[in-house]
Amino acid sequence: MPKKSLADLPASAFADGVTVVRFDLNTPLENGSVADDTRLRAVLPTLAALHGLEARCVLLSHLGRPGGQPAPGLSLRPVAERLSELSGRRVEFVPAVEGPELEAAALGLGPGEALLAENTRFLPGETTNDPALAGSWAGLGSVYVNDAFGAAHRAHASTEGVARAVRSKGGTAVAGPLMERELRFLGEVTSEPARPFVAVLGGAKISGKIDVVEALLERVDRLIIGGAMANTFFLALGLETGNSLVEEDRVPLARTLLERAGDRLMLPIDVRVADALSDAATVRDVERAHVGPSDVIGDIGPRSVRLFTEALAGARTVLWNGPMGVFEMANFAAGTVELARGVADATSAGALTVVGGGDSAAAVRAAGVEERISHVSTGGGASLEFLAGASLPGVEALSDRED
Ligand code: 3PG
Repeated sequence: MPKKSLADLPASAFADGVTVVRFDLNTPLENGSVADDTRLRAVLPTLAALHGLEARCVLLSHLGRPGGQPAPGLSLRPVAERLSELSGRRVEFVPAVEGPELEAAALGLGPGEALLAENTRFLPGETTNDPALAGSWAGLGSVYVNDAFGAAHRAHASTEGVARAVRSKGGTAVAGPLMERELRFLGEVTSEPARPFVAVLGGAKISGKIDVVEALLERVDRLIIGGAMANTFFLALGLETGNSLVEEDRVPLARTLLERAGDRLMLPIDVRVADALSDAATVRDVERAHVGPSDVIGDIGPRSVRLFTEALAGARTVLWNGPMGVFEMANFAAGTVELARGVADATSAGALTVVGGGDSAAAVRAAGVEERISHVSTGGGASLEFLAGASLPGVEALSDRED
C-alpha cells in the first residue's frame, strides 16, 4: 500500500503545532565529534524542505546501542553541532529525550526552526516500543515525518510506535524525502529490474545475509559472491581455505545454494593471501585452488576483478552490498576499490546501480566514485531486510496514501 509522503501535505499542515521528525543520525563519533557525516548530509534536503514549509521541528534519532540508559559518549550533542554547520542553520540540542524540558523547548520553536532531542535509546522504552513514550512524542504535534530509512526495520517507539500514536489521534504520519528515495531505488531493484540484473554480495559472513542470497537468487541473472563470505563456498567446493575466516556450519547451505544457482553464481577464481591480515603482511595473488594451509585470504585477486567487472559491464541493473576483502587495509583494498569503479562504469554505460550497506558505501567513497552511482543507500540492516523481501515496520506504520 503506497504511503503518504511529505510532498503530499499542504503547507497549512505545518502552521500549528510541532512536526516530529525521525532521522537516522546513527553515525560514528571520534573524540567527541562526528567522524563520518554521510547520514547527516543525506537529510539536509529534508531539513531545507521543512524550513521552507515553516515547520517547527523536533528531530529524533538514536545513536549506537546504549542499552536503554544514558551513556555520555553516545550523546547527540556533537551531531546537532555538525548538523547546524552543514545546514547553515542552528539546530539546537536539547539534552532530554522526552518530558517537560523537551516540551518547553518545542513550544519555544519559531516557524522553520529545528531542535534535536537527546538519543532516543537513552530510555528503555525506545527499543521496547513503549506506547507511553511513543504517545509523549505524538503529543507534541499532529504531523510525524519518518525519514530514517536506516532504522525503518526496527519497530521502536520513535519509528513505529509514534507513527501509530500520531495517526490514532487523527494526525498524519508521512515518509520523508530520503525515505522515499531509498524505497524508490531499492524497490526498482527488487520489483522489475532491467536485465541483465547482476548482484554482488560481499562482507564477512553468509549467516547475516542468507535471506538476501535466497531472495536475490530468484531474481538475478548473476549473483557474484566475494569477501570472506566466498570462503565458505570454497570449503563447500572442497578447496583449501587455510586460516581464513569461514563458517563451517554454513557449508551445507553453501553447497545447496551452489546447486540451486548453477552458473548464475560466480565466485572468485583467484584470491589475495598473506600469512596474516595485517597492513604489514606481504601479499601474494594465487589461484583459489592454490591457497596454502597457513594462508589467510584477505581480498579477491586481479583475475577475479576482471571477471566480475566484465559481468558488471553488460548489466542494466546492478546491486552491490558488502566489500570484496579487508579493504580498510591498503594491501587488501584493491578488489573492493576496483569493484566500486566497475559499478560506477556500469552506471556510465546506462545501468541503474544501487549500493547498500555502510562498508560498501565507504568503499565507494574511498574509490572516489560516489557521484557515479545511481543510489548509495544510507541503510545497512534496513536495506538488507528490504532486499530480502521483509516489510519494514517503520514504513508500514505510516499513513496510507488513500487515508
Ligand atoms: C544502522 O546503523 O544500521 C541503523 O542506524 C540501525 O542501527 P541498529 O542496528 O543499532 O538498530
